[in-house]
Amino acid sequence: MTPQTDDRPVALVTGASAGIGRAFAQRLAADGYRVIAVARDSGRLEALTTRLGPGHDRLAADLATEDGVRRTAELITRTRVRLLVNNAGTATAGSFTATPPDRAQEMLDLNCRAVTVLSHTFLARARPGDALLNVSSTLGWTPKPDLAVYSATKAYTTALTEALWTAHRGSGIRVLALCPGMTATASQRHEDAPAALVRTPEQVVTAALRALREDDAPTTVPGRTDRLLTLAMRLLPRRKALALLAGGDGPA
Ligand SMILES: NC(=O)c1ccc[n+]([C@@H]2O[C@H](COP(=O)([O-])OP(=O)(O)OC[C@H]3O[C@@H](n4cnc5c(N)ncnc54)[C@H](OP(=O)(O)O)[C@@H]3O)[C@@H](O)[C@H]2O)c1
Repeated sequence: MTPQTDDRPVALVTGASAGIGRAFAQRLAADGYRVIAVARDSGRLEALTTRLGPGHDRLAADLATEDGVRRTAELITRTRVRLLVNNAGTATAGSFTATPPDRAQEMLDLNCRAVTVLSHTFLARARPGDALLNVSSTLGWTPKPDLAVYSATKAYTTALTEALWTAHRGSGIRVLALCPGMTATASQRHEDAPAALVRTPEQVVTAALRALREDDAPTTVPGRTDRLLTLAMRLLPRRKALALLAGGDGPA
């Protein structure tokens, strides 16, 4: 790792090599952060940090493993990280019983365990002005049957982050759950969904950083349509909402 030689605030972004995480890394670097990018593929990380410019750093780590989480936590312990973006996540679609148990375990490890350990490591050292942003999903409120485990991991992330928001209220430490709907990334293209319901990673990042700066809300859902859809699903009788979610290509 490059020693911390400049006085830019440090933002650590997990899953920074692609999709929403890469958009975070690029925007935060442009906004004056020194970015530490974490993901598994060292080649993609190197390409990213080269493009970001001098001073940015990377850590190749598999956050679905204990070793990867430990090395990332150690990096947070020895670095003055001002903003942690827990973005890395994975989804396997299919019926619950057809999903191999090790894929379900990987979703739990990456989407829940890594987020929990890294949030804990960060918040134990956070000072006023620092911020924790956990990337969840609208599916945390609106579970889909073909994404049962993934939806449940996002319900966990939203609940954890909301509880941490409450615990840190008034401390000057900002905690936010970002709950995007469908976002066009390489792993989730959403090509069959109506274009009006699909956002770009850059739009999601813009909404998230605006919410971090301007709101004091525990969660943010980018896009008015997704906010309305999510609200409607939460107001409907549960049986009706779940039936609707089972039928259509709802929010991600
Ligand atoms: N796209 C959507 O529609 C959507 C909607 C709602 C919420 N989200 C959430 O947004 C976040 C980003 O989604 P995305 O669509 O941008 O994903 P993506 O395009 O698939 O990118 C995932 C990123 O995470 C990294 N990653 C994957 N597994 C990892 C592991 N085990 N350890 C460390 N890094 C890992 C990947 O790099 P490597 O492969 O090199 O590790 C990559 O940088 C996720 O939490 C997802 O659940 C996405």
